[in-house]
Amino acid sequence: MNGLAGKRILLGITGGIAAYKAIELVRLLGKSGAEVQVVLTGAASQFVTPMTLQAVSGRPVRQDQFDPAHEAAMGHIELARWADMVLVVPASAGFMARLASGFADNLLATLCLATAAPIALAPAMNQQMWQNAATQDNVMRLQQRGIVLWGPASGDQACGETGPGRMLEPEALLYRVQSHFSPGALDGVRVLLTAGPTREPLDPVRFIGNRSSGKMGFSLATAFVAAGARVELVAGPVALATPAGVDRIDVETACEMEQAVMDRVGGCDIFVGCAAVADYRPERIANQKIKKHNDEMEIRLVRNPDILARVAARPAAPFTVGFAAETQDPEGYAEKKRIAKRIDMIAANLVGAPEGGFERDENALTLLWEGGREQLPMSDKRQLAERLVAVVAERYLAARHPSR
Ligand code: PMT
Repeated sequence: MNGLAGKRILLGITGGIAAYKAIELVRLLGKSGAEVQVVLTGAASQFVTPMTLQAVSGRPVRQDQFDPAHEAAMGHIELARWADMVLVVPASAGFMARLASGFADNLLATLCLATAAPIALAPAMNQQMWQNAATQDNVMRLQQRGIVLWGPASGDQACGETGPGRMLEPEALLYRVQSHFSPGALDGVRVLLTAGPTREPLDPVRFIGNRSSGKMGFSLATAFVAAGARVELVAGPVALATPAGVDRIDVETACEMEQAVMDRVGGCDIFVGCAAVADYRPERIANQKIKKHNDEMEIRLVRNPDILARVAARPAAPFTVGFAAETQDPEGYAEKKRIAKRIDMIAANLVGAPEGGFERDENALTLLWEGGREQLPMSDKRQLAERLVAVVAERYLAARHPSR
């Protein structure tokens, strides 16, 4: 999945505060083996310097459309032909308008017109600018011409507003580039996922349950499908639509979830336990609604099966990934769970804090495996899921095919 060796990326940077993130993307692309040629617009050079980008890319940055050093030999055409992909990060509203109208009034816009390579844009702008009819019209025109848009995400903006217009994080953009050049890193791989909460009934109207909206698990299902996997999703009670291409099985209790998982886990390659499974269930379920006769009430609970541990203990266990939801020291507790449940990887998240965790749109994860760890910073769960899937794919392929 990582391999971008020999791929030539023409990375255009336009003017916007998110331009600083392009520096990290250039570094990540280079680390993955790509050759990166940076092209800066005049506005972009107000936010990032050619010197920095030359240092991280290892190549002189191109800025001038009429640079005599290059244009004597039709340098812009040469550069347009050189690229395997043109990626504009960030793509400002102004640049997208220019591209949609076919202007060739700066080097980057000219290159976009002159290239036969695929073009991807990572838009970044104020949410109102993004939602403006003119911008949306340009987006439609660009997409109709085959130009791909990666993002934007929704969230807090540098201008203090909240909404759509945030540029995707460099790691998510790297993943998109990698997926473009090697689509379906998980082609044909069978993935079984659990998501959402379980509900353990006390009587016909009451239950014990955990907090979980299913957003994290459903985003993972979407990201696995995008990576080419065949995905089965065992979902607790959540109010979410089934992601395209996903085979969904609805359950309510931990025992039902266990049964659904065990029925399907044979022949599955990757198992991810993202569900917030209730550890205990009432020993007895009352047939009728329990009446309030006393001031106190005792409910005897019995342990639920540990689905994740059972999957990992199977003779031909799939590559098994668990989650750990903790209110303190997530990494410490997660590492203990990873070892105790004998799983290949665990994703630790802090819950009950002002940001991230259950029910929110964003989250942050620390991934732990034997001898390794990776921090996935706070971001929209959809982007986070893409990054998590990229790491899982990498670890799974390394574990199953050590020579790849
Ligand atoms: O759904 P969202 O609102 O988006 O929130 C996402 C989330 C916070 C629920 C998710 O990111 C998460 O952390 N899921 C796991 C929650 C949890 O139950 O963690 P745990 O530490 O209690 O369990 C550890 C692991 O064992 C989990 O992979 C869990 O699925 C699994 N488990 C736990 C108990 C049990 N009986 N069977 C299990 O398989």
